Amino acid sequence: MVDKKDIAWGELGFSYMPCDASYVCDYADGSWGEGRLTPDHTITLSECAGIFHYCQEIFEGLKAYTAQDGSIVCFRPDLNAQRMADSARRLCMPTFDEQRFIEAVKAVVEANAAWVPPFGSGASLYVRPYMFASGDVIGVRPADEYQFRILVTPVGPYFKGGAKPITITIADYDRAAPRGTGNIKAGLNYAMSLYPYEQAHANGYAENLYLDSQTRSYVEETGGANILLVNREGRLVVPRSHTDSILPSITRRSLVTVAQDLGMEVIERPVLLSELVANDFVECGLCGTAAVISPVGRIESEDVHVEFEDGCEQAGPVMTRLRETLTAIQSGEIEDTHGWVYKICD
Ligand code: PLP
Ligand code: COI
Repeated sequence: MVDKKDIAWGELGFSYMPCDASYVCDYADGSWGEGRLTPDHTITLSECAGIFHYCQEIFEGLKAYTAQDGSIVCFRPDLNAQRMADSARRLCMPTFDEQRFIEAVKAVVEANAAWVPPFGSGASLYVRPYMFASGDVIGVRPADEYQFRILVTPVGPYFKGGAKPITITIADYDRAAPRGTGNIKAGLNYAMSLYPYEQAHANGYAENLYLDSQTRSYVEETGGANILLVNREGRLVVPRSHTDSILPSITRRSLVTVAQDLGMEVIERPVLLSELVANDFVECGLCGTAAVISPVGRIESEDVHVEFEDGCEQAGPVMTRLRETLTAIQSGEIEDTHGWVYKICD
């Protein structure tokens, strides 16, 4: 076990702090190179690199934790590897082998073990794998060269106030087109969300809820997390997209299983905004690696005013139970019966 860094872990927000090492691997001449750890947190690229012009960039996000027994673990890295490969295929980028992806996560987290926040601190080490076109392109086409990197940084809660319910708004803009790229994790999906994000913040909201762009009648997800709802019968309702434009959140997929393990009924189906307006749901939460489960107390826009009865002033009972169960599995306090927790080192 290494000595941890002297950091006020409990005061961390969600921001970047360079650690000891990053992972880097280059793709050229049709194959990936060896890959290595580097203390250099900067990147030098050609002015004509594809990333700058046609935005070939994809990323992932997962967290490493110090478990109750002091070991360092992460959660379902195989699913991040698979989703990154799906994202790569959609943007004509080379896939990075899934086993190598997991080994790279292990190597970079191990090299930064002193930066993994201690058990019980409420913080974790955010792991950000990403890949971009480093080769020159001037006409519109995929590049021939790429770089895969992983940076790590210790983080606290994504939303200020931690587990206190947030108020979100409904974006006037769309996040993902039918048959577009909403179901992959590409930087371009976030670039176009920045303007509505800034607008939401300027108006005092924590996040944007996006509607399906075809009809603007179904709820899809927020800028950085999927949504979960609890109906009046106590069932967990998980919005689905007719047009496959929701990012397949690993946290959401895990929580569906956790809820079923806890004996809850789970319904995955398209959900109309009008159902929320009609007060059909008593709790709402945003789920994702960064968000974990952040309770939503209210959704407000010019013509929409929704208050979730059981989760308005403080997190509701279902979101609280799901959050506690998931985080206890991640930290080894509850048995991991699904083989989700991946041990990095003691
Ligand atoms: N939806 C979007 C748009 C996201 O950016 C994220 C974050 O990764 C999620 C959902 C949650 O996905 P996951 O649970 O895999 O982190
Ligand atoms: C994550 O949850 O890992 C993400 O990538 C979401 C991002 C908005 C921070």
